[in-house]
Amino acid sequence: MNVTVVGTGDMGGALVRALAPHHQVRWTGRDVRVTERRVEALGLSGQVGVAELARALDADVVILALWHRHLAAFAREHADLLVGRIVVDIANPFTQDFEDFTLGFDTSAAEELQRLLPRSRVVGAFKNTFVAVFDAPHFEGGESDVLVTSDDERARAAVRALLAPLPFRVLDAGALRNNRVIERMTLLSREVGRRHGFTRRLSYRLLGAP
Ligand SMILES: NC(=O)c1ccc[n+]([C@@H]2O[C@H](COP(=O)([O-])OP(=O)(O)OC[C@H]3O[C@@H](n4cnc5c(N)ncnc54)[C@H](OP(=O)(O)O)[C@@H]3O)[C@@H](O)[C@H]2O)c1
Repeated sequence: MNVTVVGTGDMGGALVRALAPHHQVRWTGRDVRVTERRVEALGLSGQVGVAELARALDADVVILALWHRHLAAFAREHADLLVGRIVVDIANPFTQDFEDFTLGFDTSAAEELQRLLPRSRVVGAFKNTFVAVFDAPHFEGGESDVLVTSDDERARAAVRALLAPLPFRVLDAGALRNNRVIERMTLLSREVGRRHGFTRRLSYRLLGAP
């Protein structure tokens, strides 16, 4: 499987670093020179392809490491190039001050993206994985969970397979509507974490036994 990561910010960098040893990865953003500088800064030269945005979207899986508030414009502009593709949404719909969400309880960022891209197969993942967790995903109770959602069962399975070599426990979390809860889990963890002094490296793991 080949994968393209869109967005050269914190999560884009963390995802590219995690995926590059296992898959054919291309990284892209609004400015190819910025992407090249990021590849160099992260010591990934030769391990990751850099391409202009429009040319990089012909991948099996396209991961959008962008803010929810930028996704509508992105989807409108690139919908045709994303037809039939698996599009991974990692966004939580935070307000500018990160204290709340811009969406109500009756929808989620992932569902909104699927509405904007009806001919693509949207998959939600990494909603609860704070960027610092990528560097240290093992907690006392085990690895951090990544909850994978989609209304397309095959797309969900494909993304779970893509993420399987990464140092997380990758769980099937069902349909996209579950992101109404999953995304709000991030908001809750941020607040509870802040109250108890774990502010950057925090994550979820569901306790259970077969
Ligand atoms: N940070 C976390 O711990 C964390 C955890 C879980 C989920 N998330 C989600 O991950 C997403 C990205 O977070 P991040 O921390 O990586 O943010 P970030 O560091 O600010 O990166 C966001 C990237 O979006 C692109 N961008 C900026 N302005 C844009 C615009 N006007 N239009 C289109 N693209 C624009 C930029 O990449 P280019 O310049 O390359 O285009 C920028 O680097 C968010 O939706 C967030 O909710 C973050």
